[in-house]
Amino acid sequence: MRYQPLPSDLYIRNRAKLTSMMKHGSMAIVNSNDEMPRSGDQNFPFKQNSDMFYLTGLDQEKCILTICPSHPVESLREVIFTVKTNDLMVTWNGYKYTLDEARQLSGVRTIKWLDEFDMTLKDQMSRVQTVYLNQNEYIKYFTDVPSRDTRFAGKMKTDYPVHSYERLAPLITSMRLVKEPEEIMQMQKACDLTNDGFRRILDFVKPGIMEYEVEAAFTHEFSRKGAGHAYQPIVASGRNACVLHYVSNDKPCMDGDLLLLDVGAEYGNYCADMSRTIPVNGKFTPRQRQVYEAVLRLMNAGMSMLKPGVTNEKWHAEVCRLMEKELLGLGLITRAEVESQDAASPAFFRYYMHGTGHFLGLDVHDVGSRQDVFKKGMVLTCEPGIYIPEEGIGIRLENDVMVDDIPVNLMAHIPVDPDEIEELMGRR
Ligand code: GLY
Ligand code: MN
Ligand code: MN
Repeated sequence: MRYQPLPSDLYIRNRAKLTSMMKHGSMAIVNSNDEMPRSGDQNFPFKQNSDMFYLTGLDQEKCILTICPSHPVESLREVIFTVKTNDLMVTWNGYKYTLDEARQLSGVRTIKWLDEFDMTLKDQMSRVQTVYLNQNEYIKYFTDVPSRDTRFAGKMKTDYPVHSYERLAPLITSMRLVKEPEEIMQMQKACDLTNDGFRRILDFVKPGIMEYEVEAAFTHEFSRKGAGHAYQPIVASGRNACVLHYVSNDKPCMDGDLLLLDVGAEYGNYCADMSRTIPVNGKFTPRQRQVYEAVLRLMNAGMSMLKPGVTNEKWHAEVCRLMEKELLGLGLITRAEVESQDAASPAFFRYYMHGTGHFLGLDVHDVGSRQDVFKKGMVLTCEPGIYIPEEGIGIRLENDVMVDDIPVNLMAHIPVDPDEIEELMGRR
């Protein structure tokens, strides 16, 4: 394991909270993610199922957690099943968790090998009427490949057709939305590593450098500190910054252009999500600075609104209202256009066409909806941007913020002031 795991106390608390929300006479079953094949003998890097990690801290494939609180035998109320290492596996891939390692990491006392799963499940199922099963319910999550959760739900319904089934997602979502102090600690660490990466590239960006060289500097910085990327990084110079999901990162950075960086570290499975926009030659042109300062005002205003009681929907509407004013000030839209605009496609859409932010945590676009009311301890990104393809300008600034009466900026140490950026790039 490359990261410092959190004490099992967090996972013990998480399971206790979930148990307190489950119906009487029910059990919950959570699976690890699949290993995803890449080619004949290769897999993509393993990414643990976020709910499995949240409830156990286990970061290995082929683990199953069962929670059956009303089982008369205490040792069968919480059970983890994990794959037993054999000689062939050791030769090719090394050891998997021992029973004791799985116990230490998760705080679950009963750990069994997977070959005992079917029998134990049968026993547990005979004690309950309702089974909570997991599905990824994020509204933009689509896949042609049936996930392990989907396949498992199908098998359960075939093998145990007269039980009733419930969605686990609403319960887990309500828990994951509000971060525990240990989770904030991991997220802060991810933000700190993102800061290290950003400061490193400020020293290094200059005209002629390739976008992928900048990406490589972040990758090296994250990797040498036991972290990785939380998502595919966007390193977009000039007009490329107006392509919102630009990830080819294969163009040279040109003198006079801006460079938009949307890069975040993932540490211990927790995500940071940062955007910064810097001048390739170290000095903003007057127009670039004018637009930059507008985006910075919007980000600061947006962050200050991340307080209990607000929803993403209302927050975004408020930032859009400020955006309209800024775009008028920049001469990008006119008063007449605003007055005659259709509410479904307002004038500012031409230059600002995405949301102001999203929940962040174990997933970069974390669980939760635009209607969830903000509570203390939730973490959101705040990421306004202005994209002007006709001027070759795309600027987005993005910080990660914990909701509180005075919102807490987890990226307060990452340079964003344009004078400071120029100074760190050696041009002031
Ligand atoms: N980096 C992904 C996002 O900002 O939403
Ligand atoms: Mn981002
Ligand atoms: Mn984001």
